[in-house]
Amino acid sequence: MERAAVVAGLGGWVPPTVVSNDQLAEVLDTSDEWIRRRTGIRERRWVSPGQSTGDLAVEAGRRALASAGLEGVDAVVLATSSPDRHCPATAPEVATRLGLGPVPAFDVAAVCTGFVYALATGAGLVALGAAETVLVVGADAFSTLLAPDDRSTRVIFGDGGGAVVLRAGSSTEPGALTGLNLGSDGSLSDLIEVPAGGSRQRSTGVPAKTEDTYFTMQGQTVYAQAVRRMAESVQETVERTGWNLAEIDSFVLHQANARILAAVARRLGRPPERFLSNIETRGNTVAASIPLALADGVASGELRPGHKVVLAGFGGGLTWGSMALVWPRLAAHRTVSPEPAAAATEVGMP
Ligand code: UT7
Repeated sequence: MERAAVVAGLGGWVPPTVVSNDQLAEVLDTSDEWIRRRTGIRERRWVSPGQSTGDLAVEAGRRALASAGLEGVDAVVLATSSPDRHCPATAPEVATRLGLGPVPAFDVAAVCTGFVYALATGAGLVALGAAETVLVVGADAFSTLLAPDDRSTRVIFGDGGGAVVLRAGSSTEPGALTGLNLGSDGSLSDLIEVPAGGSRQRSTGVPAKTEDTYFTMQGQTVYAQAVRRMAESVQETVERTGWNLAEIDSFVLHQANARILAAVARRLGRPPERFLSNIETRGNTVAASIPLALADGVASGELRPGHKVVLAGFGGGLTWGSMALVWPRLAAHRTVSPEPAAAATEVGMP
């Protein structure tokens, strides 16, 4: 029996403002029909003016801590690629707002794979004995990075936060994380980028063109990479765990596009209904996507204690990664993302 990081709490949160496909079709050359057919998305939530990734992370983190029955943890790892500010990291402020004291807190940037990378980092802290408990959050407010007139990105992304609490436990108990597989390919870093604002552009001394300050994605190439890399990563993780694909109850993949989930299912030869999906109402929430899918899966009853689960992410970098676990029994009442009215009164609470 080995020491392992065990999932002990789960929380998810999305901001109250709902943006429907029809609303986007009023200001962009697009339609509800195109967006649903090509992505599976019906609506998404966006932050309101003044709201930030840190706000999403605090709300998700608070719910995960409550679900775990904890008021403190030994470390905070925040996966985000839309931090509140370029410098410093957002995690220390999130830790302080959650009342966690002077614990180590840092950001991990791996775009849509961020949560899997952060989970691996948190699990590593536990395995090393550096922490008994870790709060791992994935949060992004990507709506703030999108060009107002870019129909190819504006219809896809939603904002949100999701979080888990890890605690030290044994590798044989439900919730123990196992089978880690991570990878990257920096030769394809231009496929998903915000060209301006970093040291490479700033060191030129030439002010950035406005269009270069927005997020861009080469959708079709990214699509093909996402299908291939997530399928391969899932297979690797299943093998490392000593399971086989047929016994996996729930595949919880990054929610980039309903067609990508279907294509990975085909490639792995598994039924599409085993692939949890909340993309219809959440859109692509970047680092929040996997924990929000977990939270929504628990709330809907699709994800149940005892399920064999594989998590898999893919995103900018390029980056990808997977992990496996048997889903544990958690305090599920804290995992439901609140309805708009309830959320509105809670946003920005310390
Ligand atoms: O989260 C990190 C990883 N991200 C992903 O995995 C995203 C992967 N990519 C995708 O999900 C898809 O490539 C998109 C949803 C981004 C785009 O869907 P697509 O089916 O690949 O469309 P496309 O880029 O091939 O464009 C097809 C057509 C084009 O028109 P023409 O050239 O055929 O006349 C686009 O201009 O659809 C057009 N188009 C749109 N039309 C209406 C692109 N966006 C829209 C839109 N509404 N919003």
